[in-house]
Amino acid sequence: MAMVCLSDFEAYAKKYLPKIAWDFFAAGADDCSTRDENILAYKRIRFRPRMLRDVSMMDIRTKLLGTEISFPVGIAPTGFHQLAWPDGEKSTARAAKAMNTCYIASTYSTCTLEEISAAAPGGLQWFQLYIHRNRAVSQQLVQRAEALGFQALVLTADLPYTGKRRDDVRNGFRLPPHMKLKNLEGAFEGDDCSEYGLPPNSLDPSVTWNDIYWLRSLTHLPIVIKGILTKEDAELAVRHGVQGIIVSNHGGRQLDGGPATIDALVEVVEAVQGRVEVYLDGGIRKGSDVLKALALGAKCVFIGRPALWGLAYKGEEGLQDVLRILQDEFRLSMALAGCASVSEIGRHLVQFSKL
Ligand code: FNR
Repeated sequence: MAMVCLSDFEAYAKKYLPKIAWDFFAAGADDCSTRDENILAYKRIRFRPRMLRDVSMMDIRTKLLGTEISFPVGIAPTGFHQLAWPDGEKSTARAAKAMNTCYIASTYSTCTLEEISAAAPGGLQWFQLYIHRNRAVSQQLVQRAEALGFQALVLTADLPYTGKRRDDVRNGFRLPPHMKLKNLEGAFEGDDCSEYGLPPNSLDPSVTWNDIYWLRSLTHLPIVIKGILTKEDAELAVRHGVQGIIVSNHGGRQLDGGPATIDALVEVVEAVQGRVEVYLDGGIRKGSDVLKALALGAKCVFIGRPALWGLAYKGEEGLQDVLRILQDEFRLSMALAGCASVSEIGRHLVQFSKL
């Protein structure tokens, strides 16, 4: 099977993954309208391409909080990579390093932070945090990540409770017994870990903006907040001193009925006015999607499910294939739109009318 675009990896993963794993990766909340809208929204945006602009030399590099990456696509945090490939997050880390981009490792990884870090020494890795009721567990994770050389802390803000993913309920989703949430091993000893490998209600739903100050007291790492969708929250994020914002709706797995992230990006970028970096995830499936997100003000985008499809195809190699295809498509879209470097991408490049 020729792997030409990301949908080819999706089709492969759907065909070969066990149904319970495929359903878990694919799931959106409720009737999945936000998950699907993330993708559909790109189709409503049209380019205003410019011609005769010498695109013989292309520069697609960018910087994330000062660190250069090969192109503006990183890997969003997703849990349970061993469901896709036996080496799990170690393969993800290696692929990200080989492609010189950023990997955000999830709290819910099936490899330890130590294993992830050792798999790709020198690679750009950020650590994604969920805050648990047992704050000592979260504190220890943050400090472990910092000591291991992770370069930013990504606080996920949109999951006080887990969204209702119907297929997971129907399938009675559980991690296979040989897979563990390795970073939390021992933390919930003796508890009933029936909810995604965790005790029900282990997350702390009382988290507020003030907890950014708590995190700040634990670490020197830059803090990036993930899950922002409105100008009000963007303003609060800046005022609470975060260094970056990821516009995200968790791939449509949390509140169903919220906006597509590419639609929300515009108001967040307008509110932030360049004070911090703004990134986006959700629905990126083509290089031209990346170009649209950058044109509307994202500094970089991240992929969730497509990375899992790449892993399911051939582990580290499969994920590199996914990233390489996106990279080639992005470079080509830029050239055809008349941009020779990322710095030439701007709002003028798209026709965009918000709903
Ligand atoms: C996620 N996402 C997620 N986010 C997070 O902050 N921590 C996590 O552990 C997870 N886990 C997770 C598992 C799976 C299977 C999916 C699909 C998603 C959300 C993820 O970071 C990202 O926001 C979306 O996946 C982006 O949408 P796309 O690229 O999947 O459309």
